[in-house]
Amino acid sequence: MTNNKLKGCAIITGSSRGIGLAIAKQLAIDSYPIVIIARSPQDKCSENLQFFIDNNYPFIYVQSDISKKEDRENIVTQAINKFGKIEVLVNNAGVAPLERVDLLNMSEESFDRVMDINLKSPMFLTQLVAAQMIKDKNINEKATIVNVTSCSSERLSLNRAEYCMSKAGESMMSKLYALALAEYNILVHEVRPGVIKTDMTNSVSKKYDQLIEEGLFPIKRWGTAEDVANVVSLFCSDKMSFSTGNYIDIDGGLHLPRL
Ligand SMILES: NC(=O)c1ccc[n+]([C@@H]2O[C@H](COP(=O)([O-])OP(=O)(O)OC[C@H]3O[C@@H](n4cnc5c(N)ncnc54)[C@H](OP(=O)(O)O)[C@@H]3O)[C@@H](O)[C@H]2O)c1
Repeated sequence: MTNNKLKGCAIITGSSRGIGLAIAKQLAIDSYPIVIIARSPQDKCSENLQFFIDNNYPFIYVQSDISKKEDRENIVTQAINKFGKIEVLVNNAGVAPLERVDLLNMSEESFDRVMDINLKSPMFLTQLVAAQMIKDKNINEKATIVNVTSCSSERLSLNRAEYCMSKAGESMMSKLYALALAEYNILVHEVRPGVIKTDMTNSVSKKYDQLIEEGLFPIKRWGTAEDVANVVSLFCSDKMSFSTGNYIDIDGGLHLPRL
């Protein structure tokens, strides 16, 4: 498969696997050259990257830890050097706490780790990318930033409160950037996945099999990474040009209040 019309590139953090990989694949299909970001070396995910090679989709892999300032700067440099212009940023990389511990016993180390990767890193990567977009693009051209938050931006889990707080902070960050960047035609949106089948949910897979069976989600199935990627694709498309600062729940209806 070949791309008809190449656009500015799309940077997707945490795209070596899971939701980020599905987003990278979909945006490649949508004709964006792709910048894949993960901490692991490229050869660790070479099987996942085969899709881009087989379909002749342009991509680069920039091994980076987004919590490091110099890595964030390098991501922008590499993207510009290779593809000339950034059109899309998807802040997807995120982590759960290493251990689920009750709020009253949460450690400062765990709080710092989760806040750093899930909130501080997208905050400052967005700052860098937005500055570059403002510099490079014509005001009539749309650019898009999508933040992958979570149903945990609103729902409470006392045994991973640092995750909930980081995602609630990222939801506020989305709205703030939407307001700040609207005048430059850089539109900022948020997707809120519910429970999605990836490595992140592997350890709680049995628990959710049971809860889904019992009706936790009105749509009775696991979410897939592709469910999330499809909505990111919509936000980036020309079909969404007079909306900013919105979010979509991708959670099988979990957010609907029930009695
Ligand atoms: N799965 C769910 O049910 C679910 C639900 C709601 C929200 N989310 C959110 O969706 C996003 C993706 O989740 P997922 O389930 O796809 O996770 P995942 O399967 O654990 O994948 C995480 C990705 O992020 C990368 N990553 C982690 N820390 C990084 C760092 N410091 N710098 C650069 N890359 C980093 C990982 O690669 P390396 O390990 O190589 O760095 C990997 O590519 C996260 O923000 C998560 O909070 C997930």
